[in-house]
Amino acid sequence: SINTPDMTTDVLIIGAGLAGLTVALSLPEHLRITILSKGPLHECASAWAQGGIAAVLDENDELEAHVQDTLVAGAGLCDETAVRRILAQGPQAIAWLQEHGVHFDTEAEGRLHLTREGGHSARRIAHVADHTGQAVHQSLLQACASRRHITLQACSPATELLLDGQRRCAGASVRHADGRPQRLLASHTVLATGGMGQIYASTTNPGSATGDGIALAWRAGCLVRDLEFMQFHPTALHIAGQALGLVSEALRGEGATLHLPGADGKPGERFMLRHDERAELAPRDIVARAIDSEMRAHQLPHVLLDISHRSRDWLEQHFPGVMALCAAHGIDIASQAIPVAPCAHYACGGVQANTDGSTGVAGLYAVGEVARTGLHGANRLASNSLLECVVMGRATALRIATQPLLKHSSIHSTYRNQGKGLNHKTLPEMQEALQRLMQTHVGIVRSNHSLIAAAKQLVLWRAQWRGADTALRNQLTLCSLMVDAALQRHNSVGAHCNLDWPPLEAAIA
Ligand code: FAD
Ligand code: SIN
Repeated sequence: SINTPDMTTDVLIIGAGLAGLTVALSLPEHLRITILSKGPLHECASAWAQGGIAAVLDENDELEAHVQDTLVAGAGLCDETAVRRILAQGPQAIAWLQEHGVHFDTEAEGRLHLTREGGHSARRIAHVADHTGQAVHQSLLQACASRRHITLQACSPATELLLDGQRRCAGASVRHADGRPQRLLASHTVLATGGMGQIYASTTNPGSATGDGIALAWRAGCLVRDLEFMQFHPTALHIAGQALGLVSEALRGEGATLHLPGADGKPGERFMLRHDERAELAPRDIVARAIDSEMRAHQLPHVLLDISHRSRDWLEQHFPGVMALCAAHGIDIASQAIPVAPCAHYACGGVQANTDGSTGVAGLYAVGEVARTGLHGANRLASNSLLECVVMGRATALRIATQPLLKHSSIHSTYRNQGKGLNHKTLPEMQEALQRLMQTHVGIVRSNHSLIAAAKQLVLWRAQWRGADTALRNQLTLCSLMVDAALQRHNSVGAHCNLDWPPLEAAIA
């Protein structure tokens, strides 16, 4: 019933991925902390991460090289101050994770084994085989569960943010697993809701990744930026037109090559060299677009990724997860090439935030994939996102710890109930229609025509679905913001490629 009494906490953290858990574990223990997750606790991108975490850890590597690689991948649109601030904390972030029980893979003499990914000029990725995310998330979740001042509430989606009379954030409304709505009032509120891959039909992201945090923050008065830069991962396992899971970029880092399928179905021409001299290890946007263009030119449902030059033993040691995923679909990666295609993976943009999580709304912080700090520019460098979660998470906790606990009065909702609209379809049907629209009209390659058509359709749906569930309305808001951002950019750069606008360099020249 709507009469559920309000609950109060000191710090409300919306999201239980790496970003949210890092904030919780870095806050002082005298604060009462509540962490929400939308679905089960393990259902988050953090727990699914494969490749690893980028940081300068090798004596022959240097911070400046990591900075330059990040700026190059970001296609000139990164905020260099944020880049330097976050990357400089890489080694401390890895040490902090180790202190919290994460055992990264090591080699002789106990040195960390570092792998390589696209866009990196050195071996720089700390990892736990190819299930880094699961190892990291499990350790931190255990640590949170053992702390008495931290309460974890699974299956409790936040549906809106609350503001007080001075337009400061005062917490959020939540719908509990039994359908009961409740207001959770908090002195400080942290958005750590992750990404939005699920607004596309084909994605590597878990079901919870519908970009809720962006819609919530937008309605509460935050700026959102860079939403046109949706990063597509080049290699998701693809069978019968369906994305079935990620095949880590670290395979290419370890020598896997991309091919057109030959007449016999075996790997044929190695095409990446025709697209970029860095071949399979070019930044992600370039590899994803190259694959997409080859698939279109040759009318292929997928291309092939081949790592069969590595021995079975070596593959079992380094890529047990990818091996098992492929085996479950009848592919033995030690002897067969993997059918792959690009799919929606990472939101480079999001809620405008400083590297300490602070946003334009007092009392509200954004951390992790939901935030836009300027680290990623137009295209994120592989394995920089887990790093951003840890570095920002710690800095946000420090910032909150130095702020007084706010007292709120005259708390009000940011959600306008728009009454009943025409609402003939069911929620999953509407969600699917939205995902198809974004996939076909706002995908790897866009045009003015496709974006305008998407914008018109969204206006129509916003009118028709006025009475719809808040979850769907949040997604509609987000999609409209993304299409607007894409229409406003009059060039092509990084992950945003509009066939009707020239590349950014040419636009400047
Ligand atoms: P998440 O880990 O996604 O957590 C979001 C949390 O918010 C979840 O608990 C969710 O339930 C909750 N939530 C969402 N909406 C609501 C709501 N309305 N109310 C309450 N709770 C909500 N990056 C790397 O750096 N290295 C990698 O190797 C790597 N591999 C990846 C592999 C895969 C398959 C994927 C999908 C991503 C990968 N990434 C990788 C990206 C990286 O995993 C994510 O960017 C990062 O984990 C995001 O962390 P987060 O804490 O911001 O969000
Ligand atoms: C991967 O393992 O390919 C994912 C790395 C990332 O998204 O940073």
